[in-house]
Amino acid sequence: MKWWQNAVIYQVYPRSFQDSNGDGIGDIPGIISRLDYLEHLGVDAIWLSPVYDSPNDDNGYDISDYQAIHPDFGTMEDMDRLIVEANKRNIRIVMDLVVNHTSDEHQWFVESRRSKTNEYRDFYIWRDPVNGGPPNDLKAAFGGSAWEYDEETEQYYFHMFSKKQPDLNWENELVRQSVYTMMNYWLDKGIGGFRMDVIDLIGKLPDEKITSNGPKLHDYLQELHEATLKGRDVMTVGETWGVTPENAKLYSDTERHELSMVFQFEHVQLDEQPNQSKWDIKEIDFIEWKEVLTKWQVELKDNGWNSLFWNNHDLPRVVSRYGNDSEYRIESAKLFAILLHLMKGTPYIFQGEEIGMTNRTIESIDEVDDIESINMYNERLDEGYTHDELIHVINIKGRDNARTPMQWDDSRQAGFTMGEPWLPVQPNYKEINVDESRDSSDSILNTYRQLIKLRKDNPLVVWGDYELLLPDHPSVYAYKRSYKGKTWLIVANVSGKVEYLVSNVTNSVGDVIVSNYNKESFDPKEAVLEPYEAIVVELLD
Ligand code: GLC
Ligand code: CA
Repeated sequence: MKWWQNAVIYQVYPRSFQDSNGDGIGDIPGIISRLDYLEHLGVDAIWLSPVYDSPNDDNGYDISDYQAIHPDFGTMEDMDRLIVEANKRNIRIVMDLVVNHTSDEHQWFVESRRSKTNEYRDFYIWRDPVNGGPPNDLKAAFGGSAWEYDEETEQYYFHMFSKKQPDLNWENELVRQSVYTMMNYWLDKGIGGFRMDVIDLIGKLPDEKITSNGPKLHDYLQELHEATLKGRDVMTVGETWGVTPENAKLYSDTERHELSMVFQFEHVQLDEQPNQSKWDIKEIDFIEWKEVLTKWQVELKDNGWNSLFWNNHDLPRVVSRYGNDSEYRIESAKLFAILLHLMKGTPYIFQGEEIGMTNRTIESIDEVDDIESINMYNERLDEGYTHDELIHVINIKGRDNARTPMQWDDSRQAGFTMGEPWLPVQPNYKEINVDESRDSSDSILNTYRQLIKLRKDNPLVVWGDYELLLPDHPSVYAYKRSYKGKTWLIVANVSGKVEYLVSNVTNSVGDVIVSNYNKESFDPKEAVLEPYEAIVVELLD
């Protein structure tokens, strides 16, 4: 077994986690001061969103120096101390690795754009204009063309994200070697691995309009593995938006020596109109949602490994998007925790999820920080959408939802900062905060602690086979996990209404293992399920 197979990983978005010096921006000393909390929660690793030097066009996902810490976050000494202090508590630090692109302020790009003959020219993707315009019609994820014209040398460079995020040219061997050298610098510091940003794009062939899953993608990853990860006890998780189960097996089959696992996003994209953008939303079909989650559980059963998550710094808060963040906030937050943490794979918790933090509500675009939402708003306003429509969808899907400061206590600014936070603290911090949750045994936080402990204590949670029950039930999600003659049943009423459940599960029932309504018994043949009730029981013969 690898350590990450029974691990639970906690994502820290550093800007919003804990400020230590009153400048309103979370920082590394702030994270260090909260390690005891993470130890108490029981997590094994922190995935740290980028803390590298960056002009912050995309909040650190535009890196100008991979081997320097942004002064807002602290110093390299702080970073080294974070690694050591975390390790003391058996917590590993998994760094975010953003190597599909750099910042345009990275020294490589500064050189590259100087002249066509510069030794770094070929570190990026430069092309001549075609008929006085861009080489083709590829679009950037943050709006507009993926090609940006540079007056200086009269060529276009390629960028999948903002124009301040030029894509590296992975076909250039020197680019790859430079990335591997940088990775080894971090691995030698004793980090626990990497989360690899949009890694499925590195094999792109922009001239052929291939962006994700390019032909050389897996060759590059095998080369990367050989040059950096081989022989080290670390984990890697690739961010892969368009991945299929077949492809996920290519990445995560241990025999292939690529990555430990990937993030697939199918289950969080079922609220989008097919083949449109994340902003074109639709109702989620619950039955399809169960099918998709089940497909991933079943397909990666023997080869490969799943990552399990509901939200991250790019996605809305789980309790607001899929649960009910008013009347049943506590029940529904616990329900989604239970559903996810009883599945097979490595679960990820996004900061604040463990206390049921909610989406934010804005009324004006001036309140938005996120470049993706702002660009979309401006683009669509020009296309004729109304202000109200756009604000509505930003409130549902915008990335700032997940990025509001962590709510630690009921003091001013929720204990996040002594100053003015870079993004406002949510007004509900007086009720929703860590202090309050620690004090109440019935809190969402305690459910997360319990679930993390269950995974540690029960091989069934880590290794058990998964089987979906009642696939056509319109509001109940029920599945079994079985391992070495032991079976657990997980039943969740994913609705705000009481459900009368009748099933053909005829086994007698043993202990209740988890219940978000503190139930002491449960009969799967016939049961009344409360709104957002979730329960885990042992099935006997
Ligand atoms: C990933 C990151 C996101 C970032 C983008 C470009 O999707 O999670 O935050 O904006 O890559 O680096
Ligand atoms: Ca600070």
